[in-house]
Amino acid sequence: MAAVLTRNIVKTFADVAAVNGISLNVPDGEFMVLLGPSGCGKTTFLRIICGLEQQTSGDLLIGGNVVNDIPPRARGVAMMFQSYGLYPHYTVRNNIAFPLRTQRVSRDEIKKKVEWASQLLGIDHLLDRRPRQLSGGERQRVALARALVREPTALLLDEPLSNLDAKLRTSARQEIKNFQQRVHLTTIHVTHDQVEAMGMGDRIAVIDHGRVRQVGTPTEIYQNPADLFVATFVGAPPMNIVTRNGGGYLGFRPENLLPRRMIEDDAATEFSFRVDRSEYLGSERIVYGVIDGYESKQPITAKLPPAHVAEDSIRPGEWHEFAVKNSALRHFDSSGRHRTRN
Ligand SMILES: Nc1ncnc2c1ncn2[C@@H]1O[C@H](COP(=O)(O)OP(=O)(O)OP(=O)(O)O)[C@@H](O)[C@H]1O
Ligand SMILES: [Mg+2]
Repeated sequence: MAAVLTRNIVKTFADVAAVNGISLNVPDGEFMVLLGPSGCGKTTFLRIICGLEQQTSGDLLIGGNVVNDIPPRARGVAMMFQSYGLYPHYTVRNNIAFPLRTQRVSRDEIKKKVEWASQLLGIDHLLDRRPRQLSGGERQRVALARALVREPTALLLDEPLSNLDAKLRTSARQEIKNFQQRVHLTTIHVTHDQVEAMGMGDRIAVIDHGRVRQVGTPTEIYQNPADLFVATFVGAPPMNIVTRNGGGYLGFRPENLLPRRMIEDDAATEFSFRVDRSEYLGSERIVYGVIDGYESKQPITAKLPPAHVAEDSIRPGEWHEFAVKNSALRHFDSSGRHRTRN
């Protein structure tokens, strides 16, 4: 097991800066999630760590050693790709054994390692099948077993769950996380799904245009976003962002915008909220509308617990007294950076 550390990694392709100076410290055994929109440089950054791509500048350290010029295989890092990349004509056994076959590993040793990895992932009964005879979740476990068979010191996962349906994704999320905790393996997991990031990461690095916007625990990222990008990328519906008189930005989460009477705390800011539309989602009601006296690029959303809000009390087209506790308000300057209130 080993820590992974990058210092100001840059990667340019012709005139495209795919990675724009990423410095990231992933301590030994941490589950780090890289979260960011499509094209922000996540895959490129992972490929640099495992050595499939050479950085334009910057240093990469694994287990405290600079490995800039160490070839991929000698880095001890395994990467699992988005598409899994299983060989269709190979059995599960041979797929898992593949990384060992290309090295000088004895037959006995290969057999042992394949058994170890397949038992670890609960796929030892599938060893003689071929990938097309497996479910999506089973394929994922085979790909994971193949990544682990060389006993890597760090594991890189590039959107490993994106091919699974919603239900399977939830259970696969648990499986990867449980497994990672069991073996205490330093893991960098890439996703553009913020629910996955929140649920899995010890910490999350939010990336945009090849730069890290913020690194923090899921709570820190959600409660105290460093800027407007993070504030609106994490959370569904996203944080409401409003302005008044062109000054700074005011942000508040949908679940904090509530009918005035539901807020006991006196230190609250009141808003006159015109409801345009409402969606009942079982455990919550999402209400869309506008706030009087403020500007916003998006409809304002409020997330209400339906048990406390009678359906006919929030009528579309009408103005209602809503409020946000002052402790739940977030302030951003005109460049979008978070600032403490002054
Ligand atoms: N080999 C390449 N040559 C030129 N440009 C590239 C190459 N690989 C990636 N890029 C560009 O670098 C940027 C980052 O790509 P990358 O694949 O790292 O994004 P990503 O965050 O993984 O996106 P996604 O979520 O869609 O997988 C993109 O603008 C992409 O077009
Ligand atoms: Mg990618």
